[in-house]
Amino acid sequence: MEKPVRLQKYLAMAGIASRRKAEEYIAAGRVKVDGKISTAMGQQIIPGKHKVLFDNKKVETKEQLIYILLNKPKGYVTTLSDPQGRPIVTSLLHGIKERVFPVGRLDLDTTGALLLTNDGELAQIILHPKYEVYKTYEAEVKGTPSRTAIQALENGILLENRKTAPAKLQIKRKNKRNSVIIITIHEGRKRQVKKMFQAVGHPVQSLKRLAYGELGLKNLAVGKFKILHQNDIKSIFSKKTTLQTKKLLIQFS
Ligand code: URA
Repeated sequence: MEKPVRLQKYLAMAGIASRRKAEEYIAAGRVKVDGKISTAMGQQIIPGKHKVLFDNKKVETKEQLIYILLNKPKGYVTTLSDPQGRPIVTSLLHGIKERVFPVGRLDLDTTGALLLTNDGELAQIILHPKYEVYKTYEAEVKGTPSRTAIQALENGILLENRKTAPAKLQIKRKNKRNSVIIITIHEGRKRQVKKMFQAVGHPVQSLKRLAYGELGLKNLAVGKFKILHQNDIKSIFSKKTTLQTKKLLIQFS
């Protein structure tokens, strides 16, 4: 669905000019991509992700903004194309015409809540650690982490020379072999949850994202999605949001 388009096509789609005319504008240095003048013909633009300016004015394709929550199954990639030909999450969004992209990633074998949108601005807020959007996961791990291990994970541990931000953990159930742990973090480093448990000697056996903030899967079946409304979007952000977030959220109130 969400496919990169050539810069001149993007300008044409937004009604700025014909493709040929758009090429002239690009060559004349009147087009900026993510703050830099782009004179490279054919630069790939991902609508909703790259910020394109024409004569310093924002160029927008006239798509409606849309927000979707998908319960991602195992075996689907969260990229928009896959050189290995594995199924991509957007192929599950039957009937959605807008070119949406996933907000953040989930590993191939991770299931659960995946937000998709064509709203680049909101995606950036959700992903930026500064805004502290909490993500909650259910992790089945090998063995049972000790109280010391749980505390270490809660306080922050060194991962790749950088301490993780405070987290919340709760053991939901355990047996002799495995434990199911609910973990809430607000960073989004690559494979963070798996690395955190690995670091304390309890590798993750399976992982499911339950929620972004208060926005949970509820009874959304695996492989199914729902279109979100204003209140759903608001529930992503914690009550203790920063002033900046509050300003940005005015559009949803
Ligand atoms: N942390 C992980 O380790 N994997 C995911 O897919 C998401 C968070």
